[in-house]
Amino acid sequence: MEYSIKSGDPSTQRTACLILGVFARRQLTPLAQQVDKASKGHLSRLLKRGDMDGNTGQQLMIYEVPGVSAERILLVGLGKASELNMKHYASAISGAVKTLNESHPIEAICGLCDVEIEENNLYQVIRETVLQAEETLYAYTETKSEKKKPSRPLKRLSLFIHDRRQLKAARKALGHAQAIASGVAFTKDLSNLPGNICTPSYLASQARALGRNNEKLRVQILEEKQMEKLGMGALLSVSRGSRQPAKLIIMEYKGGKSGAKPIVLVGKGLTFDAGGISIKPSAAMDEMKYDMCGGASVFGTLKACMDMELPINLIGVVPSSENLPDGDANKPGDIVTSMSGQTIEVLNTDAEGRLILCDALTYSERFEPAAVIDIATLTGACIVALGNQASGLMANNDKLATEVLAAGEHAGDRAWQLPLWDGYQDQLKSNFADMANIGGKGAGTITAACFLSRYTKKFKWAHLDIAGTAWRSGANKGATGRPVPLLTQFLLQRCGQSD
Ligand code: BES
Ligand code: MN
Ligand code: ZN
Repeated sequence: MEYSIKSGDPSTQRTACLILGVFARRQLTPLAQQVDKASKGHLSRLLKRGDMDGNTGQQLMIYEVPGVSAERILLVGLGKASELNMKHYASAISGAVKTLNESHPIEAICGLCDVEIEENNLYQVIRETVLQAEETLYAYTETKSEKKKPSRPLKRLSLFIHDRRQLKAARKALGHAQAIASGVAFTKDLSNLPGNICTPSYLASQARALGRNNEKLRVQILEEKQMEKLGMGALLSVSRGSRQPAKLIIMEYKGGKSGAKPIVLVGKGLTFDAGGISIKPSAAMDEMKYDMCGGASVFGTLKACMDMELPINLIGVVPSSENLPDGDANKPGDIVTSMSGQTIEVLNTDAEGRLILCDALTYSERFEPAAVIDIATLTGACIVALGNQASGLMANNDKLATEVLAAGEHAGDRAWQLPLWDGYQDQLKSNFADMANIGGKGAGTITAACFLSRYTKKFKWAHLDIAGTAWRSGANKGATGRPVPLLTQFLLQRCGQSD
């Protein structure tokens, strides 16, 4: 959809539809009051009839309002003014966009953006508006033969702000929002693709395509031969059970000063995880096509940063493989040697994410990173701990952890920190190798991070376990695009461009 920022007199805006807010007990927002005045009280008279009291979820479309240039007005309930939060606001935006997309207007002006929402400023509200609108309009169609579309979809949305002095801030927010939304959509598209289309080679070709469209992006794909030379025995062991060759995708975006240390994002790109010989139960196994969501979030974040032309050096590293049972697959008890030289006893072949990530993390040392963040659908235990509200965060540096948490909070894409205390490391003891790839009963999310921590000693590192946040199950099954909002916010903060 196209977006713009508008200011001026709301009642004289020529538009097919003006969206205005109503709080509970029929209380018009300040902007709606202005329009009410121009209409000589038409809106308040209508509300008195009792068709709408402004509760959340309510909507009322009204036509031919006197003294107003808009062809119609969509009144949207915002609930109690004192209780308005981002969640209520987002659902009001979502409802309005849905209604308009399914009705006649193909263009509208949104007069909800200047409401006051807790501690959020205009920049945040505008970002949320666009992200929520795009979330609502997102439809996966790639593998459907009939691409169902509404007959008159919403094509243009102008965001109205009353204070002209805020135009500049609003335009900046809009630019950021559109870039982030396009990154989120790219991440969703890649994630939703099935495993027979989205293979490691497919992801590699997507990376090359990104590189062709941007001269600041250098893309390099390491093949299995090259990984062998580097000694990536852990990563390659996972791929042995698959007929699809593994790929190590490296995308270097040089937006910052040449010498400035880069941020490295490492994303798990397991395009299908059947568990290997330690095979998973069959229920919901289809959802293991989403085991590359971490990698997809690296793609989406890079795309967003390139769209924003962020002055930062950013490197995406995506180790990509399948994990399948096969005569040549990893077997429980096998011992593999990682690129770092540390040996690993593979007690459970389903704990494969850490095996591909550890070599990608060791590889990342060569970039002398300012910080490394890995993103992975790593443990089912993370869903047990945090459900689908927050991603799990673990880090070897408290300042970095605080930064990541703040970014998530600011972007409405939250993470929650779990401890990485030394005591947990004991759970990885092996009688036959330097470590086991599983930590036994208890604290599965933490012991997975403990495993990774043994490969991240040379840099500041944070780990995001997105097992519970990367996609939704059930009737609304689909990728969420998380944690692209968190990651882009983190990067905006790093270049002092947030707000
Ligand atoms: N990709 C899975 C984790 C996962 C499972 C994410 C379900 C989201 C939903 C990962 O590779 C895995 O299988 N982890 C195992 C680790 C265990 C064997 C220590 C798990 O969580 O069961
Ligand atoms: Mn697994
Ligand atoms: Zn996995």
